[in-house]
Amino acid sequence: MKILSGVQSSGRLHLGNYFGAIRQFVQLQEKGDAFYFIANLHSLTSVQDPKLLREYTLEAAVAYLALGLDPDRATLFRQSDVPEHSELFWILGSQIPLSHLERAHSYKDKIQKGLKPNFGLFSYPVLMAADILLYAADLVPVGKDQRQHVEFARDWAISFNQLYCPGYDPADPNGEKNGKPGIFRVPDALIQPEMATLLGVDGQKMSKSYNNTIDLFAPDKVIQKAIMGIKTDSAGIADPKPTEGSAVYCLLKALAPVEEMAKWTESFERGGEGYGVYKKRLLELFHETFDPARARREELLKDPGEVERILAKGAAKAREVASAQMDTVKRAVGLK
Ligand code: ADP
Ligand code: TRP
Repeated sequence: MKILSGVQSSGRLHLGNYFGAIRQFVQLQEKGDAFYFIANLHSLTSVQDPKLLREYTLEAAVAYLALGLDPDRATLFRQSDVPEHSELFWILGSQIPLSHLERAHSYKDKIQKGLKPNFGLFSYPVLMAADILLYAADLVPVGKDQRQHVEFARDWAISFNQLYCPGYDPADPNGEKNGKPGIFRVPDALIQPEMATLLGVDGQKMSKSYNNTIDLFAPDKVIQKAIMGIKTDSAGIADPKPTEGSAVYCLLKALAPVEEMAKWTESFERGGEGYGVYKKRLLELFHETFDPARARREELLKDPGEVERILAKGAAKAREVASAQMDTVKRAVGLK
């Protein structure tokens, strides 16, 4: 089974990103042939500072490696190192009705959030479909917000196959019954299981836009300040404490082993321990969970040459797959 996903980064990753996304990506590398790329061509639509774009790309690669992505198991590469992505983008784009792109939710959302509407942003789903279809991915793990993009990739794969592959049957999209699979494999989205939204230090959803995050790779002092400063109510030590809407409880639940958590739940419900006790344990759990990754990240940052080698090796492997697929596509459409 082939698994593929693109990873974006804006530099700072937080606990919400880990539990909501990164952890599942890393786990999936055990389940099949995984291809993960840093979607730097996509980032270009919003990051127009070259130094920053380079930094974010490296930061994302380092973060994934530090958090458990194994380059001997999964293929990790930079999107821009495989020019076939841009090439297929154009070929697909020449078939896609404009009306599909006009319906894209994520484009509308981004414009509403104040992003300048450039052509790259508008055509983003086409590049994303090219990313997926080049590798004949079976499964595309993404967040809920990306579901429509994967559905576009499915629709466009089917209509391309119909146009260029004689005998292709859209009712049998991968040719399992009639042995005519078409050029593009029709992928399935794997929507990340709904992780209960992790709360930030102010009790709202943890998000970098709310400035309430606990970052995975911030210095110890910053982590300590963030965790010890989590907003709590004024319940006294002896009082029972609410679990619903409590950031301290929510974060403990994400980090503590199940048996230990049962003890904390009881303690919240019964009362008798102050928030300071919980926060202290939370800080310990943060370090127990992430110190190995934090240390690996420091090592990797000291040796950017090694990260570069991993990315280059990944790109070479990805290009083998992508260029064979492009050759088939070019023959099919008459470019060869
Ligand atoms: P942010 O809100 O900080 O900008 P992103 O939108 O970049 O985060 O999130 C990337 C992925 O991280 C999302 O698809 C989602 O799966 C996960 N994620 C982000 N914040 C949370 C959260 N508070 N709880 C659970 N998952 C989250
Ligand atoms: N658009 C995705 C996101 O914002 C990233 C991405 C780019 C992607 N290309 C992809 C994800 C291909 C899955 C498959 O998260």
